[in-house]
Amino acid sequence: MTRVAVFPGSFDPMTNAHLDVARRASGLFDRLVVGVLNNPKKAPLFQIGDRVALIEASVADLGQHVSVDAFDGLTVDFARHHGAGFIVRGLRAVSDFEAELQMALTNRKLAPEIDTTFLMTALEYGYVSSSLTKEVARFGGDIGPMVPPPVAEALVRRMADGARV
Ligand code: PNS
Repeated sequence: MTRVAVFPGSFDPMTNAHLDVARRASGLFDRLVVGVLNNPKKAPLFQIGDRVALIEASVADLGQHVSVDAFDGLTVDFARHHGAGFIVRGLRAVSDFEAELQMALTNRKLAPEIDTTFLMTALEYGYVSSSLTKEVARFGGDIGPMVPPPVAEALVRRMADGARV
């Protein structure tokens, strides 16, 4: 049986915490599709194509069974589209759990055949978030420990262009 999982998120941008979860999931599933939500209600720092490209560059060493795809609409529809039986989400701390439980139970109601799998982020990335990374980058702080190198370069370029976070 082929085990397929999707790992959905906003990824604006991908952090080392996300990458750590993708790496762990890539060892558990036969195929892993990182799903990048194209949410028209949010104004992201990175456009959808850039977010996909930065994740592709960051997960390149995880293997051919890991791919990246943009989606809009429901995560469960995206999962079904890829024939996935699992949704992967990362947990950094207990504070993540309440919202994640609500999402997982909503997704289960919508698609009982799909299970959400939570993976704990490595302790060293427990503090890392996309929004704080953008804030640190905006004020010229060192984001090297927080994001993969292609993302760090893109963030520095974006900030030099005068982007607002
Ligand atoms: O990286 P994020 O912002 O924490 O990811 C949240 C995401 C994209 C997983 C969540 O907002 C989502 O699944 N959105 C798609 C719409 C959907 O399926 N909503 C109902 C279930 S929560």
